[in-house]
Amino acid sequence: MPRCTTSQTYRFRCLLLAVLQKNTQKGYTPNWEVPLADVVVTDELARAADDAVRSGWWSSGPRVEAFEAAFREYTGARFALAVANGTTALQLALNAAGIGPGHEVVLPSLNFVAAANAVSHTGATPVFCDIGGPADFNLDLESVEGALTPRTAAVLALHYGGYPCDMAGLLDLSERHGFAVVEDSAHAAGARIGEASCGTLGLAGCFSFFSNKNMPVGEGGMLVTDDDGVYERARLLRSHGMTTLTWDRHRGHASSYDVELRGYNFRLDEIHAAMGLVQLAHLDDENRARGEIVARYREELEGSALTMPFAELPQNVTAAHHLAVVVCETAEAREPLRARLNERRVQTSVHYPPIHRFTAYADDELRVPLDRTDDVAARLVTIPLFGHMRPEQVALVVESLLEAA
Ligand SMILES: Cc1ncc(COP(=O)(O)O)c(C=O)c1O
Repeated sequence: MPRCTTSQTYRFRCLLLAVLQKNTQKGYTPNWEVPLADVVVTDELARAADDAVRSGWWSSGPRVEAFEAAFREYTGARFALAVANGTTALQLALNAAGIGPGHEVVLPSLNFVAAANAVSHTGATPVFCDIGGPADFNLDLESVEGALTPRTAAVLALHYGGYPCDMAGLLDLSERHGFAVVEDSAHAAGARIGEASCGTLGLAGCFSFFSNKNMPVGEGGMLVTDDDGVYERARLLRSHGMTTLTWDRHRGHASSYDVELRGYNFRLDEIHAAMGLVQLAHLDDENRARGEIVARYREELEGSALTMPFAELPQNVTAAHHLAVVVCETAEAREPLRARLNERRVQTSVHYPPIHRFTAYADDELRVPLDRTDDVAARLVTIPLFGHMRPEQVALVVESLLEAA
């Protein structure tokens, strides 16, 4: 299959495939007119996975190395380590950055719980900060500053929905206070600030290739860093702290190993790496197609009771458009709106129920007010977004929103 060169041909090809696969895809296909997220099954992807299977080498090997090299080139990072998923990338980055017991890590509560869990598993304490508000779901620098103590070892910064947070402001704060910045770039593959890829501005960046992400492979992740020490520690920790891989020994590059750190098995396998190589080549087209749909949503909802965050982006920012989110006027308006969309078979979600409200985190001390997080989390609704949405699917989402708002 020829590679797409523009977002139009990309969307056309994907739309065609999506229509075809509607009738042929086996397995679980929920009965949504418009699902929240969707994947396109291409021959190119199936061939890549098939080649990896037929190669006879399934665990970490040459395709993983090629995927890392391609990701390095794409992001401009000095080092890239493919891992089992985005959560392991976060845990590895924090561990490799030396975060552990006695440390605090500041992060927005409006994030996926994986971020706080990863902090907790290092032995450090997650400390939640607030967001900007209904127009900006990214972390608020004043709130971050209010949450700092001499124990703050890192800030785990999310680029919510693929919209870059204020990295210049955060890096300035980090220099003044001496903490590390780790970027949760799970939503931000392909997002840029100027020429710099999100994930490459802090000490380390962590990506997810989960099925609902912009470059899905099923389960997979990537850690990027420019720091030699973080890379070396993360590389060892990824595979039990062992100095050689099974792949090295199979190739005859090594015959034994030492264990230098008490590590994990966070490795990616060849089949997912092969899929990742294909998906990476289409990432910019996918992001552009998503951007066009988000622009249409904004245009259609203008003047309605619903607003969308990130309407005003700095000139030099390229967003990845991972999530499309609307904000209702009141918290009471949210569930009737979701119910109406559900009746029209339009899937919705909430990204995210704030972490400090979950049972597992409810007893944690709150260092700063999280009023804007609570307010926004009660009013937001995530609506469908994927690059190959058919025009009538976009129209159905808009129509259902306007009817219910
Ligand atoms: C913001 C954020 N961080 C971390 C993760 C964890 O990634 P994974 O599901 O690949 O472990 C996700 C994925 O859902 C996410 O959305």
